[in-house]
Amino acid sequence: MYDFRPAPGTSKPELHRQLVDAADALTADERDPVANMANVAALMGEFLDRVNWAGFYRAVGGELVLGPFVGRPACIRIPFGTGVCGAAARDRATQLVPDVHAFPGHIACDGATRSELVVPVVREGETIAVIDLDSPDLARFDEDDAAGIERLAELLSTRI
Ligand code: SME
Repeated sequence: MYDFRPAPGTSKPELHRQLVDAADALTADERDPVANMANVAALMGEFLDRVNWAGFYRAVGGELVLGPFVGRPACIRIPFGTGVCGAAARDRATQLVPDVHAFPGHIACDGATRSELVVPVVREGETIAVIDLDSPDLARFDEDDAAGIERLAELLSTRI
């Protein structure tokens, strides 16, 4: 049985360290990208509070296609450059959005979402996927969250 869950009261840097370590342990011996993304989506759901959607979009033929996630059903295809996920994919740059209503072109998959963090997974200079986190709270994510999820993305760049 796997029991990857943070202890109550764990500090944020420690939480991110444990999340990356758990993702490392779960994906190290598995080469199937879908299996690895599915387990990491589940881990993000376990480790991160105030998050209503956590998961992946994969880069397929110049657009993003929905991958494994936890949360409500979501839009399936997003062109590079469209919305928060598309901006992260096109620019190969983290998007930290404190208020999604203020982001031009934001795609509302779940009307409850108020803030968002999207981190590209880059391999050999190309975006291969993005990690998308949504929160029902305004400004849920900060630079520390971005740094933690960027470490996760770096780990996954050779595992998905
Ligand atoms: N809000 C995202 C779309 C994906 S969903 O939130 C799951 C965006 O603007 O790219």
